[in-house]
Amino acid sequence: MAATKKAINLLLLAAMQALVSAVMAAPSTKTPPGFVPGVKWQIEIQNPLSAKSALAPTDALVWDIDLYHVERNPAIIQHIRSAVKDATIICYFNAGLAQTSDCDFNSVWQTPAHKKLLANPIKGFEGEFWIDIKSQDARDLIKHRIALAQKLGCDGVDPDNIDGYGIDEGGDNGTGWNLSQTDYIKFITELATYAHSLTSKRGFPILIGQKNAPEIAPKVAPVLDFAVLEGCKGLQDGGSGGSGGFCDVFAKSYLDAGKPVFSIGYPKSLGGRGGCKASGVDSAEFAKVCAKSADMFSDVLKLSGGDVELDGCTQYCGLGVGKGVVTTAVDKKENETGECPRLGSSGVGVGEDLDSGEDGADKEED
Ligand SMILES: *[C@@H]1O[C@H](CO)[C@@H](O)[C@H](O)[C@H]1NC(C)=O
Ligand SMILES: *[C@@H]1O[C@H](CO)[C@@H](O)[C@H](O)[C@H]1NC(C)=O
Ligand SMILES: *[C@@H]1O[C@H](CO)[C@@H](O)[C@H](O)[C@H]1NC(C)=O
Repeated sequence: MAATKKAINLLLLAAMQALVSAVMAAPSTKTPPGFVPGVKWQIEIQNPLSAKSALAPTDALVWDIDLYHVERNPAIIQHIRSAVKDATIICYFNAGLAQTSDCDFNSVWQTPAHKKLLANPIKGFEGEFWIDIKSQDARDLIKHRIALAQKLGCDGVDPDNIDGYGIDEGGDNGTGWNLSQTDYIKFITELATYAHSLTSKRGFPILIGQKNAPEIAPKVAPVLDFAVLEGCKGLQDGGSGGSGGFCDVFAKSYLDAGKPVFSIGYPKSLGGRGGCKASGVDSAEFAKVCAKSADMFSDVLKLSGGDVELDGCTQYCGLGVGKGVVTTAVDKKENETGECPRLGSSGVGVGEDLDSGEDGADKEED
């Protein structure tokens, strides 16, 4: 009898532990099916996806594409959805800077009321200006971009450049706003609260991720749904040696919490500006960047160098050396500067209230 009771107690204990770990591993935001660590993804933000050519790879469930490519050509969303069942579409935009190719650059950021929210250009990208994220006005304008993503049918957003503190530390003031980690934590947290208050057309909260910025990962991961990393495996700009700390902080903050980490490597031997090698990266680089592919990061390898980066040429690690190279069809950039077609009645106007009440934001408090 005693032995049976002990066995039952052990069983109960095991069940409780399983329950606790299941609860701990479940992200707090309700996410679409398949949005889990290791999910296959693609990122295409250099040129707009071609909505006329067949989509590849169709087994990538998550797509990260540029918000303003979508505003210019909303058919891209349906193109992905008709090729990939249950696709989760993340719309990328620059959150830390306003850039001349943004659809709202002239109509919003260059107006007398808002021009004062922009300071220094980012080094190497003279048409991109750091935003004063300490200003509520500026944060609201970025929230309009999230609202636009929801209206266009995106499932989530990938707000880039949330690490301006790195060039401001030590009094360097590279952004022109003397921004700190705390300023960016506050910024991204406010964006997350807003994104989650909106409901996607598929009925899930709008997802929001962290781009790079490892220093603040432990602080912001609890309110975010995924991360997008560049070069965490030590291969950015062809550098050698793994910067384990960078990868590891995201493994701990996101993977352990059941949230995907989308990792981009830029190995030189994929071809760089010379084009996309059909045989993929050489075995030495493959060993470095794909060695940890068992770590549940969602890896893509991309060309490095200026305007070939984050374009169609992609290698996936899973199939081994010499395999897994895919080219996603794009339309060459069109109308990349200037205003985009207005959305008409369904669009998000500049002066429009951010109140999320009526935009299908029937929040579920659970
Ligand atoms: C590009 O601009 C031209 C002229 O304004 C317009 O007719 C065309 O529809 C635009 N194309 C895109 C993809 O926005
Ligand atoms: C930072 O740089 C901006 C633009 O150059 C300048 O206006 C501002 O006073 C500087 N702030 C600090 C704290 O150095
Ligand atoms: C810049 O910001 C830091 C806090 O992040 C503050 O301690 C410092 O006084 C600021 N510098 C100036 C000149 O305002």
